[in-house]
Amino acid sequence: MKTTAKAPANIALIKYWGRKNETLRIPANDSLAICLDKSFTLTTVEFREDLEKDRVFIDKKEAIEKEKERVVKHLNKIRKKAGIKFFAQVVSKNSFPAATGLASSASGFAALTLACSKAAGLNLSEREISRLARLGSGSACRSIPDGFVYWHGGNSDRNSYAYSLYSHLYWGLRDLTIIIQKEKKKISSTKGHQLAFQNPFLKSRLKLVKENLKKIKKAFKNKDFSLLGKVIESEALSLHSVMLTSQPALIYWQPATLAIIHKVIDLREKGEIESYFTIDAGPNVHLICQKGQEEKLKKEIQKINGVKKVVINKPSVGARLINKHLF
Ligand code: PMV
Repeated sequence: MKTTAKAPANIALIKYWGRKNETLRIPANDSLAICLDKSFTLTTVEFREDLEKDRVFIDKKEAIEKEKERVVKHLNKIRKKAGIKFFAQVVSKNSFPAATGLASSASGFAALTLACSKAAGLNLSEREISRLARLGSGSACRSIPDGFVYWHGGNSDRNSYAYSLYSHLYWGLRDLTIIIQKEKKKISSTKGHQLAFQNPFLKSRLKLVKENLKKIKKAFKNKDFSLLGKVIESEALSLHSVMLTSQPALIYWQPATLAIIHKVIDLREKGEIESYFTIDAGPNVHLICQKGQEEKLKKEIQKINGVKKVVINKPSVGARLINKHLF
């Protein structure tokens, strides 16, 4: 049976960096993210008797060996779980450039897991799908539930999964995804996670994460935007402190990254627009603002040298099946 899933990317406000267990992708800490409506992956999967190997296409091109290997590994896990032996045809399409720190692996593996498990005849709960998606890419587990999601890091395969903390309708926040670079990053986040545990600064970061998690939960409960903003900037800067001091150093920022940071602080200080930045493993920046401010903010940001594209996202529902297939 042909099955298609649509899964949102998610932007972590409290990030995951470093793993307690590499194979199971058990994170060093809990994380919290927003699913994004305009940044998503569509994936169609079909297991077929006539195929002699798996065929994987991403954004209209046959997947390169390394990408394919990762997808096939994931397919093997699902085949084993479902007790089937057929090879699959997988066609996937991203609404944004892949592997630039825009969470393509998150939405990609979330869509693949949902489509594939259904196509294989499995009937899994949301929690099981989140756990399974985590094995493909850690942050993919957060692209399964609805809206504002929390990844309980846990310490085993069973208790490491994401769930919805609040529905996508809970708070009218907006995410501006600012694309500076469309090219793939040189060092993958998978490699970065491995480097984190050799870094003496990780310990202080994990202490700060604990405090920031408490504060951000309070900010969500009271819809306290200023507190939320303060926490997410402190969090992103602490993540990049660890990245910058890794060996080799992970210097993801570009001049435009810094220009955006300064602009955002400036707009806030002048009392013009209240928004806050966060940055993943790449040069692109995400700005969080409240509903009604997004167009004005976009106009300001577009003036900055090096900004290629600005996408406005609303909080999104989680991964779901759709009826329109890609082949
Ligand atoms: O799931 P991965 O391996 O793509 O790692 C994601 C790492 C960050 O984007 C930097 C942080 C996060 O929690 O999304």
